Amino acid sequence: KIIVLDFGSQYSHLICRRIREFSVYSELVPYDISLEELKKMNPKGIVFSGGPASVYNKDSPQPSSGIFEIGLPVLGICYGHQLIVNKFGGKVRRAHKEYGSSVLSIDNDSDLLSGMGKSTRAWMSHGDAAESLPEGFNVIGHTENSFAAAIANKQKMVYGIQFHPEVIHTENGVQVLKNFVLNICKAKQDWTLENFIENTISEISKIDGNVLCGISGGVDSTVAAVLIQKAIGDKLKCVFVDNGLLRLDEEMEVNNMFENNFGMNFTMINAKDRFLSRLKGVTDPEQKRKIVGEEFVKVFTEFAEKNGPFKWLAQGTLYPDVIESGVSKGPAAVIKTHHNVGGLPSWLHLQVLEPLRFLYKDEVRRVGKILGVPDKLLYRHPFPGPGLAVRVMGELTPEKLQIAKQASKIVENELVVSGWYDKVWQAYAAVGDDRAVGVVGDERKYGHVVLVRVVDSIDAMTADWTRLPSEILERISNRITNEVEDVAWVSYVISSKPPATIEPQ
Ligand code: XMP
Repeated sequence: KIIVLDFGSQYSHLICRRIREFSVYSELVPYDISLEELKKMNPKGIVFSGGPASVYNKDSPQPSSGIFEIGLPVLGICYGHQLIVNKFGGKVRRAHKEYGSSVLSIDNDSDLLSGMGKSTRAWMSHGDAAESLPEGFNVIGHTENSFAAAIANKQKMVYGIQFHPEVIHTENGVQVLKNFVLNICKAKQDWTLENFIENTISEISKIDGNVLCGISGGVDSTVAAVLIQKAIGDKLKCVFVDNGLLRLDEEMEVNNMFENNFGMNFTMINAKDRFLSRLKGVTDPEQKRKIVGEEFVKVFTEFAEKNGPFKWLAQGTLYPDVIESGVSKGPAAVIKTHHNVGGLPSWLHLQVLEPLRFLYKDEVRRVGKILGVPDKLLYRHPFPGPGLAVRVMGELTPEKLQIAKQASKIVENELVVSGWYDKVWQAYAAVGDDRAVGVVGDERKYGHVVLVRVVDSIDAMTADWTRLPSEILERISNRITNEVEDVAWVSYVISSKPPATIEPQ
């Protein structure tokens, strides 16, 4: 296994993802993990991620001292690279900002950059750079602006690279990670999802007491439930809360799916009115998320009291959710509060069971496939826990809710019919309070502006807007203005993540 120390880069997770792609298990941990804890994890090597800080500032994040003395290979990326330069006595200073693709010239034969040719395109994103090289290190690659863009101390097995091998814009970036992980660290390629399933089922079958599982209708909670059921059968009870914030007719579809397919202990609760009345008059996005989260917990608690006792609450939390919510002690800022992490009050007396906590989305889909979950559910686009509360901007009125539902259905339908649905990560329509002029019959009328958002992504960490053919956009626009009451304009969102997020709130 390879441990990645998180110094707060938006790309930290991508490093883990890339390493797992070649079947080596990789985990992201806070940058200041103690040496003791680190050794307990028994890693074959350590990667320092990038991060927003500057090493020469007094309060810059530093790894535990002694980390270079435990005999493990270390690869520093971007900020991690500068940390190494600084720690070993070189100098880092503010430099020309280098952002985007640069040509990396490969200076010396090295085990880290082997198989890369004489030069390659590498993705840079930094404002600091090495000014002088620490003793014992060789320059193995440079760019126009960074004389020490890649450095190595083979004897100490310490390597630093200023560029980001984990992003796809770096040509052969995966080769650099492979060289480090397989050749330098000699890590075993034994991480397979079959092993994961077997180990997880065997772990879960050891627990005692009943498990309560909230089903959202999405991939994550469904796969989590199927996995747990394989381990403990009827000791798992699933509950699906219809909060009124789901996609058009979704409650019916989920209910049918569970009743017909999985033969689980499954209950659907109609809680539409409770959620909608608590959200009345609320406009702040984080407040809406909070309310939805709290109400979920309340409904669960009531169900648990009636149908318990339960000892565990199962959730389909994924690895990126854990870090994005700031649960990691690393410096990554809290980006959004995800309702499904850590929001449980202590009086609930339920322990949390999160069997997918260390998996990325595409890994969860592959686990679901192995466990026989139908493709229709596995390949349904992800949907945020707070549902339409974050896709209806401003106050959540029944009118706007209906617009979001119907317009989203049209977007989904048109993508399915044209064969685009499975090619994109998410596709929906959002609505806020903006209005624009439309002409209905001979009358000028202010109608709602609907935002259509379709994005490509691999793991939701980054996303790009989908270049849909204009005929499809045109059909979507025509259908929404014709079929959905009170919509005048349809607008297509062309912001990528970062800096935007996938959901509007
Ligand atoms: P953002 O908007 O942060 O979304 O780019 C990334 C992915 O996460 C989904 N999402 C959520 N999922 N609870 C969830 O379970 C949430 O509060 C939440 N907010 C966003 C979003 O749909 C996208 O796939």
